[in-house]
Amino acid sequence: MAEVGIFVGTVYGNALLVAEEAQAILSEQGHQAVVFEDPELADWQHYRQHYALVVTSTTGQGDLPDSIVPLFQAIKDKLGYQPELHYGLVALGDSSYPQFCGGGKQFDALLQEQGAQRVGEVLTIDAGEHPEPETVANPWVEHWGTLLK
Ligand SMILES: Cc1cc2nc3c(=O)[nH]c(=O)nc-3n(C[C@H](O)[C@H](O)[C@H](O)COP(=O)(O)O)c2cc1C
Repeated sequence: MAEVGIFVGTVYGNALLVAEEAQAILSEQGHQAVVFEDPELADWQHYRQHYALVVTSTTGQGDLPDSIVPLFQAIKDKLGYQPELHYGLVALGDSSYPQFCGGGKQFDALLQEQGAQRVGEVLTIDAGEHPEPETVANPWVEHWGTLLK
């Protein structure tokens, strides 16, 4: 069973709700999952040998929420290459904005640049179509959890 750090970026709490449900699902599957609401680099470092699940919304014009910007910046400035990292990514957004899920996509692009290995595809959730994002996220997380070793 795996250790999973769930790293949340949220403005209004939707991504946090998704993260908390993900924690419950992964725990039921026998994994050890911890949610980080204001994640720091020190939290991230532990999960480089395990799994990271990034669950973030988008604000502004394709930007990451303030709650996760410090982590993003620290990973960018201080880590560089991290090919040992396995991660998953859930991006919340709204397709009525020009840069749909821009925050999550930025995070994915950074981790890809750093050589990290993504487990599964990026899940994008459109708030316009799915006002309750967990209804889309939960089945994705159930499947994602089966891919962890
Ligand atoms: C001021 C504002 C700006 C937003 N900008 C974007 C954006 O650029 N791209 C996008 O896909 N969604 C955008 N959204 C939509 C949110 O990402 C979406 O509603 C999400 O579900 C909010 O999740 P949260 O409660 O975790 O912050 C924006 C929402 C607000 C209120």
